[in-house]
Amino acid sequence: MPLNGLVLSIMAFTSFFLFSSLIIAAIAPSLHAQPNQFCEAGIGYGDSSCGDSIPSSSKLLIKGGTVVNAHHQQIADVYIEDGLIVAVNPTITVGDEVRVIDATGKFVMPGGIDPHTHLEFEFMNTVTKDDFFSGQAAALAGGTTMHIDFAIPIDGSLTAGFEAYEKKAQKSCMDYGFHMAITKWDETVAREMELMVEKGINSFKFFMAYKGALMIGDELLLQGLKKCKSLGALAMVHAENGDAIDEGQKKMIELGITGPEGHALSRPPVLEGEATARAIRLADFVNTPLYVVHVMSIDAMEEIAKARTSGQRVIGEPIVSGLALDGSWLWHPDFVTAAKYLMSPPIRKQGHDKALQAALATGVLQLVGTDHCVFNSTQKSLGIDDFRKIPNGVNGIEERMHLVWDIMVESGQISVTDYVRLTSTECARIFNIYPRKGAILPGSDADIIILNPNSSFEVTAKSHHSRVDTNVFEGWRGKGKIEVTISRGRVVWENNELKVAPGTGRYIEMSPFSYLFDGLDKKDASYLNSLQAPVKRAKSTA
Ligand SMILES: *[C@@H]1O[C@H](CO)[C@@H](O)[C@H](O)[C@H]1NC(C)=O
Ligand SMILES: *[C@@H]1O[C@H](CO)[C@@H](O)[C@H](O)[C@H]1NC(C)=O
Ligand SMILES: [Zn+2]
Repeated sequence: MPLNGLVLSIMAFTSFFLFSSLIIAAIAPSLHAQPNQFCEAGIGYGDSSCGDSIPSSSKLLIKGGTVVNAHHQQIADVYIEDGLIVAVNPTITVGDEVRVIDATGKFVMPGGIDPHTHLEFEFMNTVTKDDFFSGQAAALAGGTTMHIDFAIPIDGSLTAGFEAYEKKAQKSCMDYGFHMAITKWDETVAREMELMVEKGINSFKFFMAYKGALMIGDELLLQGLKKCKSLGALAMVHAENGDAIDEGQKKMIELGITGPEGHALSRPPVLEGEATARAIRLADFVNTPLYVVHVMSIDAMEEIAKARTSGQRVIGEPIVSGLALDGSWLWHPDFVTAAKYLMSPPIRKQGHDKALQAALATGVLQLVGTDHCVFNSTQKSLGIDDFRKIPNGVNGIEERMHLVWDIMVESGQISVTDYVRLTSTECARIFNIYPRKGAILPGSDADIIILNPNSSFEVTAKSHHSRVDTNVFEGWRGKGKIEVTISRGRVVWENNELKVAPGTGRYIEMSPFSYLFDGLDKKDASYLNSLQAPVKRAKSTA
């Protein structure tokens, strides 16, 4: 590219870059405080994983690849400096000090953003195997360069929950953000939600399931929706009817069905459809956007389709296990095999998977998550005599990008630009961090993957990078291999090797009032105008 253009671009983004430097400096102490625990545990990756910082200021040129954004694809070079994309142009020439990666015949795409993960999550009397280091390392090996995790309040306190997750995330090796769960309601929680928005959280999740633990009723959900609307924060729901599930579970136990199949039988699709419909209608009543996490069934998907067709702003997130698998595994005679597929809502019968794929391909559903929440065989065995005690959760953070490519692109259901939209760009837009994330544009963070469409991948628990000892996609082979992952300008995955260090990841603040909120005030005003009330009546005289 012409030198002028390069200089201009650099100048335009100087202030942005200075801002990033400050953040790097701010987290530096944790870089030195944290890393050794991984080395002691023997769980570092790459030469520099035991605390010496990875070179962070690097110049990189990706040459000759097909650069794909959600809006456009072209053959171009991508020039990166100090963690940012500086230029995207058909021909960029550079000096000897710049490392050049040849991407001829390959796709150069924004790194994946996983909107739904649970790292170091304390749940059902245990804690997930993957923490913010191992889960993120696995993510990077699979082409995901950012995730948004669910921070959970402590005894209802959002502030305490946020602080706990800040600590957990100190060992991060890639960028991350938080959603915040809401598990109870009072004036303090309402005030704390404002505080959370100031801290860079722009979404709150409500659980309509897990009675007696995380579940909230309609009254709280309504309060929450109203508060979310006033803050410009996105309301998210885990949509299953918790009261009915409680009944369903009792019924299964009475029938003597105590194994993993009892889990699926106790919470059928109708309960997911019901809660999805209820949440959608309440969000419509409040006139605020709604995000339905882990859409697992045709029942829930059809409620979303109906609402969207009628003009309501509802986002539906399928997850990779729901798209790729069917729930017959829960009937497997081996307990450990069956239990590894157990999550909520359950992975459904054959047919739901294909329907969810079609919904994703046609825009009924908007982006793909994982709900990565892993427990090993020993932890799953806590429920050997009672499915209600099996920790809920499956893997996916490392497999999502490859599987969505295989299931959706290789099968011919979507274009490569759509792939970028569903795995990265739409997530960045919804959570208001686009085009810093989710795009290969000058000024965007250099979070990039290089995918070779002619190579193949295989998933096995032996070769994956997560700390869990099983994999629900075990043995899956497909075409399309992510050969290189670049996280903020650093090559962290190459030649099947990870080079990551704890403490290098950065917290990404997300501002409220994403595009989903544009125009809501106009809709509110036209609603008020339509009421023809109060009717003025002459006072009757007795
Ligand atoms: C992959 O195959 C296609 C079609 O044969 C070819 O055009 C492309 O250059 C190949 N890419 C690589 C990286 O080999
Ligand atoms: C599962 O993790 C626990 C600790 O969290 C450990 O004690 C146990 O040995 C692990 N089991 C397997 C099969 O790796
Ligand atoms: Zn989840």
